[in-house]
Amino acid sequence: MDKSELKLGEETLDRDHEELHALITRLLGASADDMVPALDALRAHAAQHFAMEDEHLRDMKDGNSKCHLDEHANVLKSFDEVREVLVGAAHPPEMKQRVVQSLSVELLDWLPHHVQEMDAGVATYRSKQRFGGAPVQISRRPKA
Ligand SMILES: [Fe+2]
Ligand SMILES: [Fe+2]
Repeated sequence: MDKSELKLGEETLDRDHEELHALITRLLGASADDMVPALDALRAHAAQHFAMEDEHLRDMKDGNSKCHLDEHANVLKSFDEVREVLVGAAHPPEMKQRVVQSLSVELLDWLPHHVQEMDAGVATYRSKQRFGGAPVQISRRPKA
């Protein structure tokens, strides 16, 4: 994947998405012992990031926000489902490996699409909030 697919030109979102990408990559390459810690680190970061976006989405009130909120919730749910498999003693190690692998691959494919199709609106909203507030006075009153 080309990393530029994760860029929206909004500093906080770009940094968060970069970090999400790094944590998914860690999960993909995780050893048996690191699978649960890697998943937990990814979930914690994703939950924090999604919560920030969700707050904006509720303020934005545009037609697309329901889909966006649902997508965040579904991703968190899939983390929890995979975690259940990982901590379950009944499941063989190969199965755990397989489940982690397919989740990671799916997420690496999902992330750039989500960023470009859904988060782009949030980036615009955040930029407008920052620059579209009180008008800046640029001219000086001539001296009397
Ligand atoms: Fe999002
Ligand atoms: Fe995002």
